[in-house]
Amino acid sequence: MNKITTLTAILAFSLSFSQQPPQLNKNNVKEVVKAMTLDEKIQFVSGIGMSVSQSSDGPVAGSIGGKVPGAAGATVAMPRLGIPSIIMADGPAGLRIEPTVINGEKTYTTAFPIGSLIASTWNPTLSHSVGKAMGNEVKEMGVDVLLAPGMNLIRNPLCGRNYEYYAEDPVLTGEMAAAMVNGIQSQGVGASVKHFVANNQESNRNGVSALVSQRALRELYLRGFEIAIKKSNPWTIMSSYNKINGTYTSENSDLLTAILRNDWQYKGMVTTDWLAGRKYADQVKAGNDLLMPGRKQETKKIKEAIENGSLQEAELNRNVQRILELVVKTPTFKQYPYSQKPDFTTNRAIAQQVAEEGMILLKNNAALPLSAGKIALLGNASYDTFVGGTGSGEVQSAYTISFYDGLKKAGFSLDENLKKAYLSYITEEKEKRPKRMSILDVIKPVEEFPISEEQLQQMSRNCEAAIITIGRSAGEGSDRSLETDYVLNDKELALVKATASAFHAQGKKLIIALNIDAVVEVTKWQDLADALLITWLPGQEAGYAFANIIAGKTNPSGKLPQTMALSYSDIPSATAFPGLPKRTPTESVYNEGIYVGYRYFSSFGKPVAYPFGYGLSYTQFEMKKLKSPAKFNKKLNLSVEVTNVGEVAGKEVVQVYLSAPAKSMDKPALELKAFAKTELLNSKQSQTLSFTLTPESLASFDAARSAWVVEAGTYTVKVGNSAENILQTATFTVPKEIVVQKVADVLKPNKAFDELKR
Ligand code: BGC
Repeated sequence: MNKITTLTAILAFSLSFSQQPPQLNKNNVKEVVKAMTLDEKIQFVSGIGMSVSQSSDGPVAGSIGGKVPGAAGATVAMPRLGIPSIIMADGPAGLRIEPTVINGEKTYTTAFPIGSLIASTWNPTLSHSVGKAMGNEVKEMGVDVLLAPGMNLIRNPLCGRNYEYYAEDPVLTGEMAAAMVNGIQSQGVGASVKHFVANNQESNRNGVSALVSQRALRELYLRGFEIAIKKSNPWTIMSSYNKINGTYTSENSDLLTAILRNDWQYKGMVTTDWLAGRKYADQVKAGNDLLMPGRKQETKKIKEAIENGSLQEAELNRNVQRILELVVKTPTFKQYPYSQKPDFTTNRAIAQQVAEEGMILLKNNAALPLSAGKIALLGNASYDTFVGGTGSGEVQSAYTISFYDGLKKAGFSLDENLKKAYLSYITEEKEKRPKRMSILDVIKPVEEFPISEEQLQQMSRNCEAAIITIGRSAGEGSDRSLETDYVLNDKELALVKATASAFHAQGKKLIIALNIDAVVEVTKWQDLADALLITWLPGQEAGYAFANIIAGKTNPSGKLPQTMALSYSDIPSATAFPGLPKRTPTESVYNEGIYVGYRYFSSFGKPVAYPFGYGLSYTQFEMKKLKSPAKFNKKLNLSVEVTNVGEVAGKEVVQVYLSAPAKSMDKPALELKAFAKTELLNSKQSQTLSFTLTPESLASFDAARSAWVVEAGTYTVKVGNSAENILQTATFTVPKEIVVQKVADVLKPNKAFDELKR
């Protein structure tokens, strides 16, 4: 090779080298955006996914096949620029993917308890542990982002997805979600908090508009998200299906840019919910970075909008950049060698621990705990226990430990023939049903297995006590029915009545377990029960957790994350939910305003069946020595001493409520501002718990000024173990009004409506 040819070769090489597009790394995201063609960018903001597959274990919707079968979706790969496809999978009760065959053996992920149960622990540390366990499964199964937690406010007990959500209160919701996100993300994978925002019903979720005031939005529906986002910085946020005040959330720049990016300074990525919204270019413009799971028309519409100038390329670039900033954080990008061997042993133990801590003892007339003996175990759900809800929050686990299995393993004596009879009846009834084709098909409970009077008489003579389990499940795509779901049906009531009379006649106790996705009516029948326990949908280890509570091996410490009303009609949203017109509601008017849940019942003096925050223990606690300064000075440090004054070890939840002066603004009688759970306290042991109240936690939203404001005056701190059981109070003054933050004056109702005021 002569000199000239060598030089030409070098030149050609360096030329071709300089024409090589940049390869994505964590420091060159902007450069990569620059190197993308317009078509590539348009293609990139639209994801991939969505098909429905049938596995031998049932339907798996949203399967993208490929690397992780059963995952809900992925982003587009661009090998030219070194951009891999990253994987997203559901959901709030654990990783929903297709059971994977590894070395000839099927691998199932862990079905954890539902969100409402996790919230019932009032234990953020435990929520963090669950998140960590879920994150471990996400990472080791090759997934990058878990589409969880679900954290919409529980506005009405009939919402079909309440089970995925936490609470009727934004502080409890926000704190539990923050801990969950921090747990998930501690594993180096992302969380996606959802559904942002006001997705409080399933009825016509893709078309309904929530007509809601700015104050209710800021103080309730947005507030939980705000807390979680500020305390845990989730990698992604999922906008919701519904509209707010007339505009789809995914097309709403007031929500996704003015509030999320400007007011809250959120820096992560926003994805749509799957197939949400209508106007794709508006979604891009609003700051909804990723459109999932990708539709053909999206690309066309986005291109048209760029061409006609209604969408700027700079807006598209901004979104592409945010998706890439997510990509570079993921295990897939880092080429993490996922093992397909998560730590299932540890994760199962956590699933059981949280199940035990989230079960709520509502009533106990010396019926529990039960010492080992013969139990009459009744109710279909004792044998065919509901462990989770349906829809994208459904997890296919390897097994379910039914309440029967758990009690049996714990040494209780149970009737084997009765179990056989129940199971063959349930199987037969289920076989009569059409095959479940979609995860959106809700699993309705089978009509109660008939038990005769004679059988009950005999059982009441032979057994120490009876347990009846009432089962419910619900899920995505439809709301619960008042008549056939919220209230117990005739067969269930008949079983409760007949069992109560047979067992009470023998001086024996009846325990009722509510294996439910969301609260049910108890007023009409609960007098017949000597003990009442909400087990929620407790995940795959259900029975072990249940047996430990029944036997007293674990002392219950769950507290209600939502009020149980005396009757459905007492609930402030009862008449408005799920909106009008009846069949396919297009508008849901939130005319209860800020008076959701206990905020309503406590402010309007309405009695309830069980208040928010309520739950019994096998021991008793005292709360004493509340210390609170007399004046609020930038912040307020409180402390209170909790003592276990009973006989057995247990945990208690301290709930800090506040009553504001309510001189300049309408305020609820009390609002939860902080909470903490004690350690396991032995008999006579005490623990002092401390809390800090900040101006942010005291402030209310003044819509007229579009600002968070702490009004001046005297506040009362109310410390207790439910919204109705206040054990210690103190007062402090705020000498001068504090304007904490002025925020964007956005999301105004698109029409006038009457809002409840005190
Ligand atoms: C649900 C989301 C879920 C998504 C992907 C949607 O139908 O609303 O919660 O993450 O599907 O499966």
